[in-house]
Amino acid sequence: MRMWGGRFIGSPDPAFMAFTSSLPFDRRLYEYDIRCSMAWVNGLKKAKLLTEQEESSILAALSSVKREMDEGVFKFIETDEDIHTAIERRVRELIGDLGGKMRTGRSRNDQIATDMRLFVMDECRKIMLKILDLLEALVNLSRSNLDIIIPGHTHLQQAQPVRLSHFLLAFAQMLKRDFSRFEEARKRADVLPLGSGAFAGTSIPVDREYIACLLGFSTVSDNSADAVSDRDFVLDALFAVSVAMVHLSRLAEQIILWCSDEFGLLELDDGWSTGSSLMPQKKNPDGMELVRGKAGRTIGDMDSVLICLKALPLAYNRDLQEDKEPLFDAFDTLRGSLEVMTGTVATMRFDQMRAAELLNAPFITATDLAEFLVYKGLEFPKAHEIAGEVVSFCITEGKSLLEVSLDELKTFSPLFDEAVRECLTPEAAVERKRVKGAGNRDECLRQIEMLEKFIKEERERLC
Ligand code: ARG
Repeated sequence: MRMWGGRFIGSPDPAFMAFTSSLPFDRRLYEYDIRCSMAWVNGLKKAKLLTEQEESSILAALSSVKREMDEGVFKFIETDEDIHTAIERRVRELIGDLGGKMRTGRSRNDQIATDMRLFVMDECRKIMLKILDLLEALVNLSRSNLDIIIPGHTHLQQAQPVRLSHFLLAFAQMLKRDFSRFEEARKRADVLPLGSGAFAGTSIPVDREYIACLLGFSTVSDNSADAVSDRDFVLDALFAVSVAMVHLSRLAEQIILWCSDEFGLLELDDGWSTGSSLMPQKKNPDGMELVRGKAGRTIGDMDSVLICLKALPLAYNRDLQEDKEPLFDAFDTLRGSLEVMTGTVATMRFDQMRAAELLNAPFITATDLAEFLVYKGLEFPKAHEIAGEVVSFCITEGKSLLEVSLDELKTFSPLFDEAVRECLTPEAAVERKRVKGAGNRDECLRQIEMLEKFIKEERERLC
């Protein structure tokens, strides 16, 4: 059965059918398509285009189709060019011509736009739950390693000491923003296109608000031509996915660096790492490398839809079929990456001894040396200059800042006194930073508690 045979004498070339068919990928939308059809049938009944009996026969047939699809026993046939055709064809097989009545006033254009919006709303919610899982793993790790201090970097050069948890919590902040981006993407998808027909609306007096309510949409679209051709909600979702993948990729890169022999700051669990087929000693962060690699793929998914939409005339065009594979791929990639990242983060172990060793970095508290002079009344540029001269002296003498004697320091400035030694330890340097958002112990704990509360509340809201 084709949905459009009447005006044709010839039948489509098999190669053409294979090229245009969306069934290989849109079959994944069957559940949404059936829900959408059920609500439409309810709407037709309310508009008095179906009797109660007709309504219940079609609904029963749709339920059977759903069951067949759920169980994987549904038989697709060659002429099923998309999921909508397959479902309608089967309904008509089950209940005869009456089944065709569900197509009244409806087009595959408003149907697919509705299916896609339902899909995006559902996926966003699932991703948000997965983000909470990863957030929880990061927060737990931050709590259990609260007392580890490491050298922090800018330009990948040792810069200032930092609490490890402070860095881990920085990634938690990125994920929290991702969470709200998916919340926003979900809201943007939350508009019902059904009732827009092919693009011009429908003369069938359906109550669109009623259908929206049945399907769980908060509102209905304002313009039918826009409704069938708008894929901004797909772009919004793809952007949210891409940014989240960029964040995961940055975390992956951090983990890859930290577990290198040169950093040696953490060890991955055996369950979340791989070996080498040639070098027996290797333990490789392949999962993290794949997450890093897959970020590019989701950005490509977003680009391909952006480019596809550019310059499309109104209203529906078949190009719009090209939104599906990238969107599905992006969500699948992000979901898999979140799972691997959560497993990796939840099981990796930091090496406190190695952290202490790395902290022997000779000039990591040079900024604190300068700030000491600022507290003594010196203006910062001058203090910066003097601290720089002390560093230069240390380099020549082969000493670290902590090894310079007070007498030596006094040759650079008379403002130095006994108290300076204490402020040059990494712990003191971290703890002295008391502003909101800094990495002292109390502040990290505040962030941890705030995030724990967030995770608990959002889980309850979503479940
Ligand atoms: N497979 C199509 C899509 O994904 C469904 C809508 C087809 N509409 C049409 N007029 N051929 O966009």
